[in-house]
Amino acid sequence: MRRILITTPIYYVNDKPHIGHAYTTLVADVLTRFFRIQGKEVFFLTGTDEHGAKIAEVAEKAGKTPKKICDENSEDFKKAWQNLEIKYDYFIRTTDKRHEEAVKKFFEKLKEKNVIYEKEYVGLYCVGCEKFLTEKDLVNGLCPDHKRKPETISEKNYFFKLKLKAVEELIKTKKLKILPSGAESEVFGLLNQKLDDFSISRQKERVKWGIDLPFDKNQTIYVWVDALLNYISAVGYNDNEEEFKKWWVDARVIHLLAKDILKFHAIYWPAMLLSVGIKTPDEEFVHGFFTINGQKMSKTLGNFIDPNDLVKRFGAEVTRYLLLSQFSLNHDGDVKEEKFAEKYNSDLAQGIGNLVSRILALGEQYGKEIMVQCLDTNLVTKSWKDYKKQMEEFRFNDALVIIWNLISYCDKYISDTKPWQKIDDDKEFQKILGLLIYVLGNASLMLSPIMPKTSTKILEYLNLHDTSKEDWLSKLVLLKKQLPLFPRLDN
Ligand code: MSP
Repeated sequence: MRRILITTPIYYVNDKPHIGHAYTTLVADVLTRFFRIQGKEVFFLTGTDEHGAKIAEVAEKAGKTPKKICDENSEDFKKAWQNLEIKYDYFIRTTDKRHEEAVKKFFEKLKEKNVIYEKEYVGLYCVGCEKFLTEKDLVNGLCPDHKRKPETISEKNYFFKLKLKAVEELIKTKKLKILPSGAESEVFGLLNQKLDDFSISRQKERVKWGIDLPFDKNQTIYVWVDALLNYISAVGYNDNEEEFKKWWVDARVIHLLAKDILKFHAIYWPAMLLSVGIKTPDEEFVHGFFTINGQKMSKTLGNFIDPNDLVKRFGAEVTRYLLLSQFSLNHDGDVKEEKFAEKYNSDLAQGIGNLVSRILALGEQYGKEIMVQCLDTNLVTKSWKDYKKQMEEFRFNDALVIIWNLISYCDKYISDTKPWQKIDDDKEFQKILGLLIYVLGNASLMLSPIMPKTSTKILEYLNLHDTSKEDWLSKLVLLKKQLPLFPRLDN
């Protein structure tokens, strides 16, 4: 499909953006850039989740209105994404009028389809998670993620009739692909546990900061249902039929998320859509969790790494590289900040940066135009094939390995052929440098979704930037020394 909608979860505005949020948003940005280069039309959606008890609680503590906190903190997310050179197409806030209207319309539809009912409910609620927990979920009586005691809540809510069979069918037939396979197994595990119907509203006297339920003024809409609906309200569900068809109904819809919110996305969300006859998402890509010393990162726990600090220290391009190469997408990763500088030095300063400097220095020493050539283009063709496969399957970390293999290949080729001894042998020197320029140029192109500015810079240094890679072979280029791309860090 030519048209793709890529979404991130919308982030709670009680937290400041940390590298966990940055990671998902960066993945979305990289995918967007990658698909665009492949000639696809992409809409990249992100935003903030602004209702619910959690936000109200934070606002009260800060002595501000919830709206003020939302206004301030959603700006922090926008700024962080800007600092990381993340270019989304639309930033949705669940306090936007447009979104609120769409949510109300959806609830009217639920009622019309007779898939909701009222029930008295008693449960253990964790405000940190904004969800009900069971006794089984608790560790020493506390929520394991937020280290707080859940409240026992008894109230009348509206419930959604959860039809698990239909969701199971969707996933089994791969109409909804859950990737990677470990996440899919987890969803089947949840489906086998026979989940109960879930509540979709809250008593207004307890949770005021929410969207009013259109048909019962004593209730507000449950923040999770409100939040999931952002994916359709942002693309015109309520107010732009044409846009909605273009970017939801007829597009390939990819949701990115981490495993903490898998149940909501893989079960509740498709069930909600099915119940009113709306197309379900096509793919959900679920990545692991960054932990700091084994603990979930959060402002409450005071252990988060601020992506803005990384950008200040390393710049946006390097931070993008450091975050994406941190760990393979399918696994959790314990982050060790001190490793960032080490990785910068080994992969960027000594790796690609040093290779660029060596090639430019040789070119300058030679002083004449070099014809780009490559006796064996198989290496590059195969690398492109492997790279695309990894990118399409969201394995950026493995895609980076393919790029870095090309870099190591060039390093080894230089050591083996010793071009500095062959400056006077035109034919031989041209052959060696011609190949190095070709391979490095291709590696730089592959790098462009991840480090767009670095990629452009290298291509400019190689004088390849104004031509497509199909025209590189036989092109004549003159090389000059430049300042190092990534100066070594001493600490
Ligand atoms: N507001 C809900 C999501 C609603 S989506 C309709 C929420 N917000 S959140 O602010 O807690 O963000 C959760 C998401 O942020 C995760 O699913 C993941 O994408 C990202 N991450 C947050 N912490 C993370 C890590 N420590 N590691 C990796 N990603 C993490 O849940």
